[in-house]
Amino acid sequence: MDRLRRGLVTCFLLISLSLLSFLIASMKPPVLLSALLCLFSVYAQDNIRIDCYPENGATQQGCEARGCTWKAAAAFDPVGTPYCFMKAEEMGYIATPTSDKQWTLTKNSGPKSPWGNDIASLKLSYKDIGDSVINVRIEDWNKRFEAGDHVDFPRKTEYSTEQLSVTVRNDSNPFSFAVNRKNGMTLFDTSIGGLIFADKFIQIATSLPSKNMYGWGEHIHQEIKHDFTRYTSWGMFARDEPPNSQGLDTKNLYGVHPFYMMMESNGHAHGVLILNANAQDVTTIPAPGYVYRTIGGILDIYFFPGPSPAEVIRQYTAFIGRPMLPAYWALGYQMCRYGYKSLQDMKDRVAAVRSYNIPFDVAYADIDYMERYKDFTTGKDAWGGFGDYVKQMHEWGMHNILIFDPAIQADYDSFQRGLNSGASFISWERPDEVMHSIQDLYPMAKNTQIMLVVVWPDRHVGFPDFLDPSNATQQWWIEEFKRYHDDVPFDGAWIDMNEPSSFGTNEDHPFFFDDPDHPNIDPLRCPTSGPDADYDVPPYQTHAVYHYGFGNTLATKTVCMRAVQGKGELRLYDTHNLYGWSESKTTQKAVYEATGKRGVVISRSTYPSSGRYAGHWLGDNTATWEDLRSAVVGAQEFNLFGIPYVGSDVCGFNGAASEEMCLRWQQLGSFHSFFRNHNSKDLPYQDPAVWPSVAAASKKANEFRYSMLPYLYSLHYAATLNGDTVIRPIFFDFPQDAETLGLSEQFMWGPSILVIPAVYESQTEVEGYIPLGETPTITYRFFSVYDYNYGQKVPLGRSLFPAPTSYNTPTFVKSGSIIPRAPPALTTVASRSLPFNLLIAPNEIDSSYNSQSAAGVLYWDDGDSVVEDINKNNYTFTQFEFSVTPKEGKVVLTMNVGPANAPSLPSLEYLEIFDFPSSPTYTSFILDGKLLSISSQKSKYSPITRISTIYFSTPINFSSAGKHTITWNCAVSMLESNRIEA
Ligand code: NOJ
Repeated sequence: MDRLRRGLVTCFLLISLSLLSFLIASMKPPVLLSALLCLFSVYAQDNIRIDCYPENGATQQGCEARGCTWKAAAAFDPVGTPYCFMKAEEMGYIATPTSDKQWTLTKNSGPKSPWGNDIASLKLSYKDIGDSVINVRIEDWNKRFEAGDHVDFPRKTEYSTEQLSVTVRNDSNPFSFAVNRKNGMTLFDTSIGGLIFADKFIQIATSLPSKNMYGWGEHIHQEIKHDFTRYTSWGMFARDEPPNSQGLDTKNLYGVHPFYMMMESNGHAHGVLILNANAQDVTTIPAPGYVYRTIGGILDIYFFPGPSPAEVIRQYTAFIGRPMLPAYWALGYQMCRYGYKSLQDMKDRVAAVRSYNIPFDVAYADIDYMERYKDFTTGKDAWGGFGDYVKQMHEWGMHNILIFDPAIQADYDSFQRGLNSGASFISWERPDEVMHSIQDLYPMAKNTQIMLVVVWPDRHVGFPDFLDPSNATQQWWIEEFKRYHDDVPFDGAWIDMNEPSSFGTNEDHPFFFDDPDHPNIDPLRCPTSGPDADYDVPPYQTHAVYHYGFGNTLATKTVCMRAVQGKGELRLYDTHNLYGWSESKTTQKAVYEATGKRGVVISRSTYPSSGRYAGHWLGDNTATWEDLRSAVVGAQEFNLFGIPYVGSDVCGFNGAASEEMCLRWQQLGSFHSFFRNHNSKDLPYQDPAVWPSVAAASKKANEFRYSMLPYLYSLHYAATLNGDTVIRPIFFDFPQDAETLGLSEQFMWGPSILVIPAVYESQTEVEGYIPLGETPTITYRFFSVYDYNYGQKVPLGRSLFPAPTSYNTPTFVKSGSIIPRAPPALTTVASRSLPFNLLIAPNEIDSSYNSQSAAGVLYWDDGDSVVEDINKNNYTFTQFEFSVTPKEGKVVLTMNVGPANAPSLPSLEYLEIFDFPSSPTYTSFILDGKLLSISSQKSKYSPITRISTIYFSTPINFSSAGKHTITWNCAVSMLESNRIEA
C-alpha cells in the first residue's frame, strides 16, 4: 500500500505541475505526458498480484480463508490476472545481520504461507564465488535437501568486466534484497514482497529490469522472448509429456531448467540460475517480474553478470559444466522410426534413402529391435542378424544408435545380474508399503522393496538408481552395455522414458489397456490420502499438477514421490528431476566403455549440466507446422541451457507428415546439430525417400550441411572448450540492435551464419531481418550462401528472400568470416578424408580504404576418441586470417596451425572469396616463400559477382604446425570504381 500511496502522491504533484503550467503559460505536453505515464506505471505496479489460488475452484471465501485478497480482474487488466492474491507487501521476514554477508531472517507478523508451516528462522547469505558470479542463499538453519549437493557442477567461473553487488535492506519490514550492477542497474529486486519459506512451499518474487527474458524450461515457447503483457505460469517438473505448439501451452515437458537470461535496456545481458531440483514453477508477471515457487530444497540463486549474452552462457556453463563434444559422425544425418516391423523393414528404408545418394550417417532402431521391449535383448526372429547389419553399416561408413530405456523388467537376466551385483533400484521406503499384488508375481523381486511399475515391456519393471552411492548400479549398467555391445556393436545410446516415465500410475483404466501390444497389468498406485500421502499430495502441488486439472498428482505418469533412492537417503520428491541427468552421466561412461570410442548419448529428460553427458531431442512432437516452428525456438533455448547437441524429430513424431512440411523440416533440421528424422509407429513412412521432392530437397540441404561440417564441428569444439553456443538467437551477435531481441524464427549458426528458415505452409519467400552490426571501424554485411544471389551482399533490415522448395534455406554468411568447409560426401567418414576448402567473406573495406579482412578457425581431431578432458584432447586448432589491400593489389592469407601432436589436417584444395576487388594474378602466389602453383583452368574470377575461386594445382598439406602464409597479387583497384552495393 505504501508503494501505491507514494506513487499516487508523485503523480498528483506532476499533474498539478502540468495544470499550473497550462494556466501560467501554454500547455506543456511533456509534463502532461509524464503525468499520464506516471499514472499508468502506478496502475501497473498495483497490478503486481501473486496468485494465492492457482488450483481450480477459486472462490472469494476460499481465498479469504487463506488470508489472501479477492478482487475480480477488471476488463483492462492483463490476461491471467489472479482474482485471489497474496498480501505480498506485508509478508516475509525481518533481517538481522549476524556476520559479514549473513543475516538471520525471522518470520514477521504478516500473512503466513497458505501452504504449510513457515519456517520461523532462516539464514540469508551471499558471496561472490569468483569473477563476480554472485550466489545468494536462503535456507533453513537445519540441513535440507540441496540439488547442489548431488549435481557435481565444476563451479568454475569466467572473467567478467562487470561487477555485481547485493544490497540487503534490513531496515524494512519485510526485508528485501537486490542484485545490482556497478552502473546502478538493478537486476533482481525482491521489494515487491511475497517471500515465503515453509517446509514444502518456498516462494520468492522479484521485479526485473526489462521485459527481454529468455529461457526457463522445458516448455514450448512459441516465441523466444517471454511475454510480459500477461501473467503466465510454467511448471518445471520432468514429465513424459508431448509438446503442443497449437497456441500457448504452459505445460511442463521432459526436462527442468530453472535458468533464464535477460537483456537489459542497454544491450547488456545477465543470467540467473535457481539451483533447485524439486517440483517448481515460475509465473512471469507484467511488472515486469516473476514469482518463483518450489516445494522443497532451498533457494540457491546464482547471478551471472555477462555483460554480453555469449559471456552469460560461458559463465553459466563454466559453472554447471561445459557440453560434451559429440563424435564427428553424430553431426551427420540420422534416420529412425518407431514401429519397424523387422530388421528387413529397417534395411529397406535405409536402402531407399541411400539410393537417392542423400548424405546419411546414422540409422537407428527403436524399441522394436528388442525382445518384447526388454533392454539388452534382440528380437528373436524378426531381428535375427541385427549385429551383422550394424557391422555392414560400419563398412559403409555409417553408424548405429540404439534406444535403451531405464525400465528393466523384473524377471530376466539383466535384472538378475543387477541384483547379483548389488545394483539398486528406486524403491518403496518401508516393507509395508510394497504393492504385493504386483511384487509377488516376480520371484526375483518378491523379497525386495523395488517399486515395480509399467512401461513398454510386457511385465513390470524397476528403475535403476543412478544416484546409488555405492556405484554398484552404475557399474552394472555399464557392464550390461558392454555385454550387449558384443552382440550388436552400436555406436551411441538414445536414452528415453527417463523422467522416469511410468504408465498409468494411479489410473483405473490406463491407456495400455486398449493397446493390443501391451498386456493389461496393474499400474503402480501411490498413496493419495492419509499420512503416507505427505510427498505425493503436498500442500502446494505446482503448476505441473494444476495445469492438468482434477485427478492429477505429482506421481501422474511417473513413480511415487514417496519412493526412495540413494540407499534410502534420498526421496524421489526431491530427486525426481535428476533422474534423466543421472542416467545420462552413467550412460556416457557405458558408451565409452562399451565402444571404446566417444560416440554420443541423447537423453529425453535433462537438467542443468546434462549437456556434459548427453544431447537432447525435443520429444514427441507432431507433424504440424506449429511444431516445426517451435523447434526453431527449442533448439535456441537448449543452447542457452548448455545442451547444444539438440534437434527435433524431423517431419514430426506423431501424426502423418505432409510432403511439403516434411521437406521444410528436413531443410530446417539440417542446421540442428542433432538432425534426425523420426516418427511413431503405425504411421506412414516419412523418410526422405518417400517423396522424390523431399529426397531432392534433403539431398541438397544435407550436401550444404555436410559441406559445413568442419565449421559445425568447430562450433561444438568452442562450446565444449569455451561454453559458446552453436545455434543462438540473433541478439547474441547483435545485442545493440534492439530489433533482434524478439526474433524467434531466424537464428545464428555460430558467429558467421544467419539462417531464415521457411516454416509456413505454401511459403515461397521468407521475411527476415538482417541485423546492422557496427563497430567503430567495421560495418558487418551478410552475403547470401544459398541459391538466390549466391555470394552477393543482401540489404540490411527487413527484407523478403525467395524460398521456393527447390532452393536451400535462405542462409547468409557474415562478412569478416572464414568458414572451413569440406566437400559433401555420402557419409562423414568419407567426407573427412577429402581435402577441405575455405569460404572467405571479407569485411567492408575499412574506413581508411586500406583493407578488407576476415578470420576464422578450425578445430580438428580424429572425430571419435573419448574426450575425458577437452583441454587434454589431441586436437589441432588452426586460425585463419585474410586481408586484401585493393589499392595496392596485395592479398595475404595466413594459417596458424596448432599443436603438431594432433591428427593432421586434411589438405586445402581451394579458396572461395566473396567481394574480391579485382582479378588475381595466378602466377603471383607464394606459400611460405615458395612459388605456389594455381590451376588457372579451375580458378575463376568475375568482376560482376566479385567472387574469386582459387584452386591450387595440388591440394596444400598443412600437417606441420606453425604459421603458413600465402600471398598473391590482384589488379590494383580503387574502392569507388569497383563497389557494387546491394
Ligand atoms: C517415446 C520417445 O519419445 C519416442 O521417441 C520413442 O519412439 C518411443 N518412446 C518408443 O520408444
